Amino acid sequence: MSNEIFCRTPLDKMPEWAQFTQATQQANVKSDHLRILNAAGLSIDLSTQRHSQELDQAGETLLQARNFTQARQALFNGTKINTTENRAAWHTMLREPRPLPEVAHEYRRMLEFVRRTDSERRWRNIVHIGIGGSDWGVRLLTSAFGYTHMWRNIRFVANVDGHAIESGLAGLDPKETLVVVATKSFTTAETMANAQRALDWLKAGNVRNPFNQIIGITANPENARAWGIPDHNLFRFWDWVGGRFSLWSSVGVAAGLTVGTPVLAGLISGAHAMDQHFLNAPFAENAPVQLALAGIGNRSVLEYGSHNIAVYDSRLSQLVPYLQQLIMESLGKSVDHYGEPINVPTGPVVWGMPGTDAQHTFFQWLHQGSDGAPIDFIVCQEADHQWPSHHRKLLAHCLAQRQALWTGKSIETAYQENLADGKSEAEARLLAKHRALPGGRPSTLIVMPRLTPFALGALLALYEHKVFVQGLVWGLNPFDQWGVELGKQLAGNIEKEINGDSTQAKLHDSSTAHWINTFRNNHAS
Ligand code: F6P
Repeated sequence: MSNEIFCRTPLDKMPEWAQFTQATQQANVKSDHLRILNAAGLSIDLSTQRHSQELDQAGETLLQARNFTQARQALFNGTKINTTENRAAWHTMLREPRPLPEVAHEYRRMLEFVRRTDSERRWRNIVHIGIGGSDWGVRLLTSAFGYTHMWRNIRFVANVDGHAIESGLAGLDPKETLVVVATKSFTTAETMANAQRALDWLKAGNVRNPFNQIIGITANPENARAWGIPDHNLFRFWDWVGGRFSLWSSVGVAAGLTVGTPVLAGLISGAHAMDQHFLNAPFAENAPVQLALAGIGNRSVLEYGSHNIAVYDSRLSQLVPYLQQLIMESLGKSVDHYGEPINVPTGPVVWGMPGTDAQHTFFQWLHQGSDGAPIDFIVCQEADHQWPSHHRKLLAHCLAQRQALWTGKSIETAYQENLADGKSEAEARLLAKHRALPGGRPSTLIVMPRLTPFALGALLALYEHKVFVQGLVWGLNPFDQWGVELGKQLAGNIEKEINGDSTQAKLHDSSTAHWINTFRNNHAS
């Protein structure tokens, strides 16, 4: 057990935390300096986050007190740092240039599968079935790199809502369709229900051997075999790869079939470059560390309840849900490794939408709402389309929003503008209060040179390591997700009751019992 790595003292009882808190509160809100870090080809501009020498020092001291160096080493060594599940969280191994033999073997098998399939020009359509970490990453890759054209169609089916599988299969020729079932556990209710529907659909489509058209990607090959998938169509990964960290494994096979395996290779090498940066860069220049500290200051000291992701690239529309799972499933916890309550606010709500759409949806709230939220602006320096003026506009909007949030607009400036617009003095004074922006709202600007697989891999690993550091400081386990279990368990029982088992009223609150009865009666009629 690696519990000894994790500090037993609750964060709020540590003098280093008190120091960090004080330094955050005293740091300049509107400092006018440049602080840009470079990591694996990304530029990370933290100039509009609170900063001071004292804060830098306090952050470093806090990390040392939380055994940062030892914990980071344990992550990369494959030590069992996921203490509640007694496993490693060794996704970095999947990005090693010389990984474990079994990792290299599965990777080669996947490449060979895609090569053979491509050379035979097989499968016009891919139906990717999986949910959460077995879904978001593949969606992200296909929208990031297949936005203009993919020679195969890909459909994603995650939700157990029957409309999802219905639309996922609609209009496809079963004989031309490969079904990819991605599930680490091979027990997830939604995925199993959808996989069964797809199997039935292949059978109904007179496919002679439907299991030749289904591939499974899982860490539970026994279950996959028992369900019917033959070994040659099974790709495996390992229990030491968390679902939300599994894009680096054969979970990416559907992306390999649609946007090409060079995308997977580039992604992995970008992530590895970020791993090396995280391992080797000194504290003050270490991008995941500095992002994590800024995030902790914003969440636990300044008490911002949420964190916004404004990605100024429409190809990355799937980045928000990907990061929502990564951050919220990892950091949405309130007890530490030892089961003690963490007495400071932990992981924020993560939300967002691509810019510029977001500007016309919720940016009003970000500029003038009572709470505000720190924002990650993400943008590419170069675009890949043929309209440079569009890209210049996009860049301008991104920078403008960030500046408006930081510098704001004073009532006096707004008043003068109103007078210049010809308003009466009284009108100008009143309107000025509505037009003023408080400013001082923190953000981080992350610039990728252009959207390459390498840059995206580096970006995703940047967030992974940021989450790791935050989990360490808060003292929680970022690699488990026990909170989702109760709902799964209840759903199994409630489904039986809706299907006709008598309602076990004592197991439910009265409202749930009422609706179980209503839905059962509806269902029966
Ligand atoms: O939501 C819980 C969860 O276990 C996620 O962590 C995971 O990514 C998802 O369900 C899917 O799990 P599986 O890959 O085992 O089907």
